[in-house]
Amino acid sequence: MYRESQPETAPARVSRGTASTSTPTEHLRGASRAGEVLRPTTQQQTPEESAVWTPIAEEAERATRVLHPHSLRLPRPTRRRVLTVANQKGGVGKTTTTVNLAAGLALHGLKVLVIDLDPQGNASTALGVDHRSGTPSVYEVLIGELSLGEAAAVSTQTPNLLCVPATIDLAGAEIELVSMVARESRLKEALTSEALDQLNPDYVFIDCPPSLGLLTVNAMVAAQEVLIPIQCEYYALEGLSQLLRNIELVQSHLNPVLNVSTILLTMYDGRTKLADQVTSEVRGHFGDLVLRTVIPRSVKVSEAPGYGQTVLTYDPGSRGAMSYLDAARELAERGAQEEMS
Ligand SMILES: Nc1ncnc2c1ncn2[C@@H]1O[C@H](COP(=O)(O)OP(=O)(O)OP(=O)(O)O)[C@@H](O)[C@H]1O
Ligand SMILES: [Mg+2]
Repeated sequence: MYRESQPETAPARVSRGTASTSTPTEHLRGASRAGEVLRPTTQQQTPEESAVWTPIAEEAERATRVLHPHSLRLPRPTRRRVLTVANQKGGVGKTTTTVNLAAGLALHGLKVLVIDLDPQGNASTALGVDHRSGTPSVYEVLIGELSLGEAAAVSTQTPNLLCVPATIDLAGAEIELVSMVARESRLKEALTSEALDQLNPDYVFIDCPPSLGLLTVNAMVAAQEVLIPIQCEYYALEGLSQLLRNIELVQSHLNPVLNVSTILLTMYDGRTKLADQVTSEVRGHFGDLVLRTVIPRSVKVSEAPGYGQTVLTYDPGSRGAMSYLDAARELAERGAQEEMS
């Protein structure tokens, strides 16, 4: 078995806490100006009503809700969902999206497995899972030396979250795989029902490297769904047609059930017109595939991995944490609706 590691929606919504279509406090009572007492105490007011409501109190309440497992009921998928998080463009938020969605789902009762398929090992870092050279990792799984369960470790974030880490050994795998039998299906072969049943995840996320090489192809062959994070920046759509062509190739030759199920806009900066332009362009192009939740650019999100954490545990009351939790909820609810229809 796996190892213990060391220690309400509105259209086109930027998730809670951004300067755009919704306010950070729309879901909370009261105003949020620093140190403000909302109303003078009167005899009619309950102690709760007359309490001082400050931004810190507000953030603390948000944090409690993010971390409290019963604050949000996420539907469990009837079938296990395997999602590949891919975009060959570097630095668009693949890893950040993988680990934070995974943590959002896991903190609210679902069991999640993250497979780090990037030799950089960033997802392993953010989940607090050891990935020094020599650690049992996805490399040994790909070459058939270890089973999935033998390489999986429990994340420090929550016991519901497992991670198969990537070590630097994976850097050579792209070349080693070339000469191997069934080189495109090595990961799929490791993700047998038996191996997955042993770990029993509701969700499996595969974090891809920034390339369309054999590792990404392995991820696409092993999954049913592709989740594409798109950064709200210049050249956001550049390279996407190549990614979509590759997905079609995998569909027609190797994995007919593969489909692009989800697009997530990341690093939205409400101060720029460009972010809105990219958002509407992507929505115009991909329609309902794009989650309504948009992830804002936030310093807390980028700081979290430095502490071996996701933003959901690093700063659960922050805008970044709330927005990733919103996105996780949307992903879970969409999956449940699709199964019913
Ligand atoms: N919402 C955000 N706000 C601020 N910084 C962010 C946000 N999302 C990601 N970042 C930062 O942007 C950088 C790139 O993000 P990330 O590593 O998730 O992208 P990636 O697509 O996985 O990159 P690569 O292609 O190298 O694997 C990281 O430093 C990350 O901390
Ligand atoms: Mg990455």
